[in-house]
Amino acid sequence: MPSRVDGPLKVTGRAKYGADNVVPGTVHGYVVVSTIAHGEITAMDVTAARNAPGVIAVYTPLEPLVMQPVQMPMFGGEWWVPLQDKEVIYHGQPIGFVVAETFEQARDAAMTIEVTYAERPAATSIEDGMDTAEMAPVPPRNAPPEITALADGVESIEDALAASPVVVEGTYSTATQHHVAMEPHSAVAVWDADGLTVYTGNQAAMFPAAQLAQALGVEEARVRVVNPFVGGAFGGKAFASAPAFLAAAAARDLDRPVKSALTREQVFTATAGRAGTIQKVALGAERDGTLIAVRHDSWSSTGLDRAFTEPTSHSTSPEWYATQNLAITQRRVPLNVPPVTFMRAPGEAPGSFALESAMDELAIALDMDPIELRLRNNSTGPSGHDLKWSSKYLDECYRIGADRFGWASRSPGGREDGDWLVGMGMATAMFPAGRFPTTIRITFRDDDTAEVATGGADPGTGLLTVMGLIGAESLDIGPDQVKPLLGDSVLPPGGMSGGSTATASVSSAIMIAAAQAIDELTALATSAGAPFEGQEVSYEDGRVVAGGRSMTFGELLRATNRMSISATGSSAPGEETTKHSFSSFGAQFVEVRVHKWTREARVSRMLGVFDAGRIINEKVARSQIMGGMIWGISAALHESLDIEANGRFANADLAGYLVPVNADIPEVDVHFVQYPDTLHNPSGAKGVGEIGVVGMAAAVANAIYNATGIRVRHIPIMIEDLL
Ligand code: MOS
Repeated sequence: MPSRVDGPLKVTGRAKYGADNVVPGTVHGYVVVSTIAHGEITAMDVTAARNAPGVIAVYTPLEPLVMQPVQMPMFGGEWWVPLQDKEVIYHGQPIGFVVAETFEQARDAAMTIEVTYAERPAATSIEDGMDTAEMAPVPPRNAPPEITALADGVESIEDALAASPVVVEGTYSTATQHHVAMEPHSAVAVWDADGLTVYTGNQAAMFPAAQLAQALGVEEARVRVVNPFVGGAFGGKAFASAPAFLAAAAARDLDRPVKSALTREQVFTATAGRAGTIQKVALGAERDGTLIAVRHDSWSSTGLDRAFTEPTSHSTSPEWYATQNLAITQRRVPLNVPPVTFMRAPGEAPGSFALESAMDELAIALDMDPIELRLRNNSTGPSGHDLKWSSKYLDECYRIGADRFGWASRSPGGREDGDWLVGMGMATAMFPAGRFPTTIRITFRDDDTAEVATGGADPGTGLLTVMGLIGAESLDIGPDQVKPLLGDSVLPPGGMSGGSTATASVSSAIMIAAAQAIDELTALATSAGAPFEGQEVSYEDGRVVAGGRSMTFGELLRATNRMSISATGSSAPGEETTKHSFSSFGAQFVEVRVHKWTREARVSRMLGVFDAGRIINEKVARSQIMGGMIWGISAALHESLDIEANGRFANADLAGYLVPVNADIPEVDVHFVQYPDTLHNPSGAKGVGEIGVVGMAAAVANAIYNATGIRVRHIPIMIEDLL
């Protein structure tokens, strides 16, 4: 399988990320953040900062860079723009911007700013807020917070549970997390006669471009966002960041290019992370395992801006298993914490911890194999929808996984190996398959290369590589002849690297654009004065063919005195969405070893088997899944962003916010069952971006139970939970 086309640039340091762009005359902006979690700024003494060496400007909510309100694309409501009011609603909120000739000067001056607050008590505990929580419409399309679907004659979910011969109930919780992309949020903003150019990493250049245009009150066509390389995003770079707004506005105010990057600690507070959740799940079943009732109530933390609700109940319980009765609710607890947003498998990742732990508990209550229980309740489509899954090979994932993992050797009480207690656990993984509207431009060039371009982003996912492969396949030429290009808002709108949609969106648009480009080429070949004038031609192997004669597209362009010929093609979700529901599926397997005396838990083996439709490049897809599975181990055993009572994060750095290192991760086995799903889109790919993380945390908790007999209903699971 071909390696990443951008790999050599990245590993040799030649790939230019946002803040790597050097523009002559650039000055440096340092973001100042609040040191309280709730209150109002009553004064800011910036005298010392203004007089500090090299300082050019100091902006605060009292002397702001005025910007316009920004509407949230797709989600309704307003997007927060820094420095527009004096309210502080979380610790570490951007409240100032110091611009100086050098970064060090800006940082030093920022340290001298004295802020006076009228402080108010901060709410920081999701538990404390449960009783007063609000029902929360569920993103991205504001689905109703409550769904109840009962069988005929059943009055309530409580009745259905009461009538179930076997019931398990539990309260599960998941920690607040953060994306912590390697590349901190940053921007270099430059104004010239054409308008504004901002170099800033993101998941789709057109979204921050539109937001910046709104904030600055300029036409969208005058804002260009450039991001050919993105050092990780995971949902945390879908929209414009504080440095992007501030650098762009300051650059206009000062008529100088401005560069700004968050520090690692600021990334944890001045950008949005993943909500903490509490989930109550009750499952009722027949003795043969058939589900009678599923109840799933969720509470998730959110900032006071209420910009996002982690859709745990909605993303799992209505879709994963067939049940006769279903009741779910989704509540949010507004807290004095930084905003929350999408983070890899939003909803599914924490939601599956609750549902898949509960399914394990049900299997134990039934004395049934956990895989058998899941096979018995296999869903043919989401509950309450008429639309069936377009394709679903989950049963095959379970079976292949069980075989590959040696599931048959698992015993209900685990086993001992010297000082280690060894257990196996599994869980289901699902993530919806979708597409964003995407336009691709294909350009045949006279040097026999073809450019495949779109404005989307490759935040490390391998999209650029996939574009090259699908481009080559669709144009019937070698991959080395294709020049994939993305990461610039002046290119045709390219959808988003989010929601695991990019491969399906971009691939289907490439196929349409390629057909269009080939039509243009053959029309040129047969036009008046052209080498194939008036002939019937065909196109194969990158050549225009008629009779016994053929020419490469480059030869044809040269013969017609053209340097290039272009065509665009677009693809968007369409009629297929009225016919089927779409999802990727998987089965996750984990073996853990818990030390008998120290109680440390280590994952010793892990396997994920996935039905994600056609896999276009197995090497890149495997990396995506592997990253997700490792993230799942991280969620299960490491990651937790811990809030002190005053709203400060105790561990807003990579020393205190634990992520796994190599020694924590064994060999990762990934297997794909490959059934192209052309009911979803012509490329047959369903998406692998996020499903890898889903189910992993539950698989670990289930394995720990198998090893130790201890059921831990929260993540991360710590040594003290296993004493
Ligand atoms: Mo993803 S959370 O849609 O970047």
